[in-house]
Amino acid sequence: MRNGTTLLLLTAIAVAGAAYLTLGDAGPAPAAAPALASVSDAPSALVIFPVGEKPNPEGVGMKPVAFNHLLHENRVENCESCHHTGDTAACTTCHTLEGRAEGKFVTLAQAMHSPNSARKGQGNTPQSCTSCHAKQLQRPECAGCHSIVKPARSETYCSTCHNVSGLTKGDMVAGIAGSLPDGRNAELAVDTLKTRENPVQLQPADGPYKVFIDEIADQYKASMFAHRRHVASLMERVKDNSLAAAFHNQPTTLCSTCHHYSPLKDTPPKCGSCHSQRINPANPERPQLKAAYHLLCMGCHKGMNVARPLNTSCVTCHKQSEAKPADSAAAKLGGE
Ligand code: HEC
Ligand code: HEC
Ligand code: HEC
Ligand code: HEC
Ligand code: HEC
Ligand code: HEC
Ligand code: HEC
Ligand code: HEC
Ligand code: HEC
Repeated sequence: MRNGTTLLLLTAIAVAGAAYLTLGDAGPAPAAAPALASVSDAPSALVIFPVGEKPNPEGVGMKPVAFNHLLHENRVENCESCHHTGDTAACTTCHTLEGRAEGKFVTLAQAMHSPNSARKGQGNTPQSCTSCHAKQLQRPECAGCHSIVKPARSETYCSTCHNVSGLTKGDMVAGIAGSLPDGRNAELAVDTLKTRENPVQLQPADGPYKVFIDEIADQYKASMFAHRRHVASLMERVKDNSLAAAFHNQPTTLCSTCHHYSPLKDTPPKCGSCHSQRINPANPERPQLKAAYHLLCMGCHKGMNVARPLNTSCVTCHKQSEAKPADSAAAKLGGE
C-alpha cells in the first residue's frame, strides 16, 4: 500500500534520476538506464536518525543520514542483504547507539560501518553500508584507481552520508525520539539526495592534452602520456554510477588519483618534486621516481584489465633511445 506522498516522491526521484543519467552526453540516455520502480513498502528516500537508549533532548550527535531506498532496492539483488533478519523492521529497533539485546549488542555504528561481518551459521550474512560499498570498488571500472588510491576517510567522506540539508534542531530531536512526521522525514531526504547528484568536477580539458615525461629519460626517450584521453576515458567509465558520483564530490577528486598528497588544486606539482631518483632514507616507504611512475601506470592498467599496453611491453610507453641502448635484460623484457 502506497500513500500519496510516497508516489509523489517516487516521481520526483525518477525525474532526478533521469536527469543524472543523461548528464554529460548529448545523445540518448544509455540503454542501461532502467526507470526505478519499487516493490517494497518502504519510503523511496528516508532519513536514518541516531536512535539511542537514553533520551537526547538536545539532539547532540553526528548529523543523520539520508538513504535512497528506491535506488538500493533496484541495485541490490536481495532485500535480505540488508534486512538480514528477514523482517523489514527499522534497523534501529535492534541496533541503537549503545546496542541492545535484540541486536546482540551490535551498535548502530557497527551495523552501518562494520568492514566485514562474520558469516552467520544460518540466515543471511549482514552487510553494513560501507562493507557493501567496498565490494562495489572491486569492479574493473573502479578497481584501477581504487587499487592505487589510499582512502583518506576525511571529513568530506563522512559528510557524504552524514548530512541532511535543511535539518533543524527540532527535526533532529523529533527524529531521534521517533516522532518526526513521515512527510517531513521524506522531504528532508529527497532534498538531500538532490545535492549528491552531479557534483562539480574538473574536466579532461582542465588538464594538459599530452605530457612528455622525461624527468629521468636515460635509456629511453621521453614517454608520451595521453593525459586528456586518460582523464576522459576514466570519467566516462564512472559517469553512470551514482555511488561514484556521490563520493567523488570535490572538483579535484579524480585528478587526485594521480596527483596525490598535495593540496587539491588544478596545477599539481611534478611527481619528481616528492619522488627522488633514489629512495630517501627519511621516507623509506616512498617509491623512487621510476618505480612511482611504473607502479602508478601499471597498477591501474592491471586493476582495469587494460588490454594495451601490456605491462611487459616496454616500448609501447617508451621508445628506446639510440644514444643509450637498453641493457639486455630490459631489451629482452620488451622484446616484442
Ligand atoms: C555510507 C554511508 C556512511 C558513511 C560514509 C559514514 N557513515 Fe556513519 N553512519 C551511517 C549510518 C546510516 C548511520 C546510522 C544513522 C545515524 O546514526 O545517523 C551511521 C552512524 C554513525 C555513528 C553513530 C551515530 C552517532 O551519531 O553517534 C557514528 C559515530 C558515525 N556514523 C560516524 C561516522 C564517521 C566518523 C564517518 C567517517 C569516517 C562515517 N560515520 C561515515 C552511514 C555512514
Ligand atoms: C541496501 C540495503 C537495503 C536493501 C537492499 C533494502 N532495504 Fe529496506 N531499508 C534499508 C534501510 C537502511 C532502511 C531504514 C531502516 C531504519 O530506518 O532504521 C530500510 C527500510 C525499509 C522499510 C521501512 C521500515 C520501517 O518500518 O521504517 C521497509 C518496509 C523496507 N525497508 C522494505 C524493503 C524491501 C521489501 C526490500 C527489497 C525489495 C528492501 N527493503 C531492500 C535498507 C535496505
Ligand atoms: C530484529 C533485530 C534486527 C534488525 C531489525 C536488524 N538487525 Fe542487524 N543484527 C541483529 C543481530 C541479532 C545481529 C548479530 C548477528 C549474529 O551475531 O548472529 C546483527 C548483526 C548485524 C551486523 C553485523 C555487525 C558485525 O560487526 O558483525 C550488521 C552489519 C547488521 N546487523 C546490519 C543491520 C542493518 C543494516 C539493519 C537494517 C537494514 C539491521 N541490521 C537490522 C539483529 C537485527
Ligand atoms: C548490499 C550493498 C549495499 C549496501 C548494504 C548499501 N549500499 Fe549504498 N549503494 C550500493 C550500490 C550498488 C549503489 C549504487 C551504484 C549504482 O549507481 O549503480 C549505492 C549507492 C549509494 C549512494 C549514492 C547514491 C545516492 O542516491 O545517494 C549512497 C550515498 C549510499 N549508497 C549510501 C548507503 C547507506 C547510507 C547505506 C546503509 C544504510 C548503504 N548505502 C548500504 C550498494 C549498497
Ligand atoms: C579516476 C580514478 C577513480 C575511478 C575510476 C573511481 N574512483 Fe572512486 N575515488 C577516487 C578517489 C581519488 C577517491 C578519493 C579517495 C580519498 O580521498 O579518500 C575516491 C573515493 C571513492 C569513494 C569513497 C572512499 C572509499 O574508499 O569508500 C567511493 C565509495 C568511490 N570512490 C566509489 C567509486 C566507484 C563505485 C567507482 C567505479 C564505478 C569508482 N569510485 C571509480 C578515484 C576513482
Ligand atoms: C604503462 C607505461 C610503461 C610501461 C609498460 C613501461 N614503462 Fe618504463 N617508464 C614509464 C614512465 C612514464 C617512465 C618515466 C619516464 C621518464 O621520466 O623518462 C618510465 C621510466 C623507465 C625507466 C627510467 C628512465 C630511463 O629512460 O632510463 C626505465 C629504465 C624503464 N622505464 C624501464 C622499463 C622497462 C624495462 C619496461 C618493460 C618491462 C617498462 N619500463 C615498461 C612507463 C612505462
Ligand atoms: C591517470 C593519472 C592522472 C590523472 C587522473 C590526472 N593526471 Fe595530470 N598528470 C599526470 C602525470 C603522470 C603527469 C606528469 C607529471 C610529471 O611528470 O611530473 C601529469 C601532469 C599534469 C600537469 C602538468 C603538465 C605539464 O605540462 O607540466 C597538469 C597541469 C595536470 N596534470 C593537471 C591535471 C588535472 C587538472 C587533472 C584532473 C582533471 C589531472 N591532471 C588528472 C597524471 C594524471
Ligand atoms: C607532494 C608530494 C608527492 C607528489 C607530488 C607525488 N607523490 Fe607519490 N607519494 C608521496 C608520498 C608521501 C607517498 C608515500 C605514501 C605512504 O606513506 O605510503 C607516495 C607514494 C606513491 C606511490 C606508492 C603507492 C602509494 O600510494 O603509497 C606511487 C605509485 C606514487 N606515489 C606515484 C606518484 C606519481 C606517479 C606522481 C606524479 C603523478 C606522484 N606520486 C606525485 C608523495 C607525492
Ligand atoms: C587510473 C588509471 C590509469 C593510470 C594511472 C594510467 N593509465 Fe594508461 N590507460 C588507462 C586506461 C583505462 C586505458 C585504456 C584507454 C582507452 O581505451 O581509452 C589506458 C591506456 C593507455 C595506453 C594505450 C593508449 C593508446 O593510445 O593505445 C598507454 C600507452 C598508456 N595508457 C600509458 C600510461 C602511462 C605512461 C601511465 C603512467 C604515467 C598511465 N597510462 C597511467 C588507465 C590508466
